[in-house]
Parts: sequence; C-alpha cells; structure tokens
Amino acid sequence: MSLSTVTTIEALRDTLKPLRKAGYSVAFVPTMGNLHDGHLQLVKKAKECADKVVVSLFVNPTQFGVGEDFDHYPRTESEDAKKLDTIGIDLLFLPSVSEIYPENHRTSISVSGLSDLHCGKTRVGHFDGVATIVCKLFNIVQPDLAFFGEKDFQQLTIIRALVRDLNIPVEIRSIETVREADGLAMSSRNGYLSAEERLAAPVLYRSLCQARDRILAGEQNYPALEKRFMLSLREAGLQPEYFSVCRQSSLMPAGADDMELVILAAARLGKTRLIDNVYFSKTPL
Ligand code: PAJ
Repeated sequence: MSLSTVTTIEALRDTLKPLRKAGYSVAFVPTMGNLHDGHLQLVKKAKECADKVVVSLFVNPTQFGVGEDFDHYPRTESEDAKKLDTIGIDLLFLPSVSEIYPENHRTSISVSGLSDLHCGKTRVGHFDGVATIVCKLFNIVQPDLAFFGEKDFQQLTIIRALVRDLNIPVEIRSIETVREADGLAMSSRNGYLSAEERLAAPVLYRSLCQARDRILAGEQNYPALEKRFMLSLREAGLQPEYFSVCRQSSLMPAGADDMELVILAAARLGKTRLIDNVYFSKTPL
C-alpha cells in the first residue's frame, strides 16, 4: 500500500476499519512535522513493530503558550510527506485545527504532579495541551502501539502516566534520542539557531554527560552539582532554565539513595529553547 493522506477523522477511521478487520496491527507516531532523522527513526521503529503505520502531522496550538513560536513553527508538509513515502508508511493524518478542536471544545487533560515540573514551570499549560492532544489522537487512531522519543523525557513520562491512569489500550514504546555528530539532540527548533549559536549548542549535552560521569564517579551532592552546571552553561553563553538530577520514575529531585536517575535540562540560546536529558542507573558502591 502506498502512502495515503487523510485530513478528516471520518476518513481516517474509514481507512483503518478494514485494516483492523483484516487483523493488521497498527502503530502510531504523532508528530508536529518538519521531520528530521529523530522522527524518521521513530517511524522506522514503528514499521518494524507493526503491520501498518499511521503518522500524524499536526502543530497543536494548545501546547504553545502566549509569546511562543506557534505562528513561526516550521511547516514543511510536502517535504515531510515525501520522506514518509520513502520509508513506506501507510497513512498520514494531516488534520486542520478546526477538525481537532471544533467550536466549543472544552475538555482538557492534566497529569497532575508531573505537568507542572521542569518544562511545565516556564511553559505553563504546555503539558496539558500535550496530554489532551495525545489522548485525542489515541482515541481517533486507536493504535495497538504508539512511539515517542526519549528526547522529550518529561513528555514521555506524562504520556505513560496518562495511558496508565486512563486505561487507554495502547502500548507505549520509546526510542533513544537521535543526535547530530557533535551530540546536539535533533530538533525541529534547531533551525532557529544562528551559525554561531549552532556551534555553542552541543555544550548542553556535553554538560549532561559530564554531570552523569561525576555522579557515576561518586558525587552525591546533587544540588551543588546542579548549581555548578547552571553556572558553566551561563558562562558558555546559554541561559539555563533548569538542570536537575531526578528520579526517573517521578521526575522529582533525586537523593543519594536513588539508583535510577535522569538529568533533565533546558536552556535558551538566543531565541531558541533547547532541551535534553541523560538517564542512567547508578551501580551500588
Ligand atoms: P515533535 O516535537 O514533532 O516530536 C514528535 C516525536 O518525535 C516525539 O515523540 C519526540 O520525542 C520525537 N523526537 C523529536 N526529536 C527527537 C530526537 N532527536 N530523537 C528521538 N526522538 C525525537 O513531541 C511532539 O512533536 C508533540 O508534543 C506531540 C507528541 C506530537 C503532541 O503534539
């Protein structure tokens, strides 16, 4: 089957119904488009794991705050469709904003205790927008499997909680962050970086790796470590928002006894906001 594009929920359901009836498994990859290799690795993974792959491309207005880049977010639909066709996916869902949010849409989902941490502190309401659109897309597509990137670690944690809490019958799978050769996590927003900023940007991932290595070497004072890296990122010309050593399970501050850790970080570089993380297990001393 070659790539078909649908723009309405009804057409999507009509296309999927016979496939499901025939017993095909369906994998789903939600995106906001402007596809890079990180997205494409997700799609390839989805293709390995299911008979049919659905990709959505929807720049979701409700996850952008006032003054954020919704209007300028890169929209490259025809290039994206070509890339997906080359990989060989089955269905591309390209809905309009009014198809997803008709007048009087009033329901929102909030995953409390996770949505207001880290990125949620500066991007107020962002994760409610993400949880709501992902839940809606799950209800629309009704996939067996859905694929997300570990680059957005907090988003992935929230989606896993959402699926568990609301008993949504979908299995969530993740892939590792896909990076440029110098370590910078691929992101649709990297295109905003100037040439000079692009050279500076890998310092975020380098810092995360250095912090992880210090912890693995026995550093236990996480608040002091966080402070040092906030300072060194500032010295490198970034404006860090947070650099936090957390428990993988709850994303709350880790203590010396916690073994499954993730270091989450966000920083502004000029007008671009970068996020990244490293996760790892401490081995008992
Ligand atoms: P978007 O930023 O387009 O990302 C779509 C998916 O690609 C997400 O699961 C994200 O984690 C993954 N991804 C992005 N960059 C990646 C990289 N460098 N390596 C691996 N995976 C990467 O995330 C969103 O869209 C939206 O919030 C969405 C879930 C679609 C809801 O609107």
